Amino acid sequence: MRYLTIALAKGRLAKTTMKYLKEIGISCPEMEDPDTRKLVFVNDELGLKFFLSKPSDVPTFVEYGAADLGVVGRDTILEENRKLYEVLDLGVGKCRMCVCGPAEAAERLKHHELIRVATKYPAIARDYFYNRKHQTVEIIKLNGSVELAPIVGLADVIVDIVETGGTLRENGLDVLEVITELSAKVVVNQVSMKMEQDRISDIITRLREVVRAHSK
Ligand code: PRP
Repeated sequence: MRYLTIALAKGRLAKTTMKYLKEIGISCPEMEDPDTRKLVFVNDELGLKFFLSKPSDVPTFVEYGAADLGVVGRDTILEENRKLYEVLDLGVGKCRMCVCGPAEAAERLKHHELIRVATKYPAIARDYFYNRKHQTVEIIKLNGSVELAPIVGLADVIVDIVETGGTLRENGLDVLEVITELSAKVVVNQVSMKMEQDRISDIITRLREVVRAHSK
């Protein structure tokens, strides 16, 4: 039997995913060792391999077939825009991609002024402003603490994830426009979906039940 490989986005989402997988009888004891420096974990009995990668790399591993399945946030899926199938919403990591800024920026946004937009998600920001709003903006890529940008005068607004809204509140910023809802998704390589249809469908079907049970 060929091993099925599952790519997980490092961090809280990987832990939740392993918890859900455990509920359908898929576990990987080697992965639970907190001191391990290993990158790939194997469950020979089930013919499964797991690896943890940077979230933004999960779609790349899945598109090229280095992983058959992956679990990653929809923010990353949209930003990376890779060829893959999105097959299941895990219903966790729910948040929204928003345009945020100081209240004064709302007017400039509304009047389609040439504003500066700072973001970790330049592809999402470009698609939103250019294709959906038909608005020309200047996009500035940052790698974190994006909320700083309007505060220190780098940009007029930001495009970023809002979960509780706490970061915005503490920094005097508001949600000005909601771009889209986000949550964690299971993605599948397009060839694997055909070649390993039975095993993949089985995992997805059973995971769907777990998601349903947790949503109650
Ligand atoms: C994310 C996001 C916001 C924050 C939103 O940042 O970029 O800054 O969480 O969450 P909240 O609405 O619950 O406050 P993250 O912690 O991933 O770090 P980052 O600054 O490196 O982007």
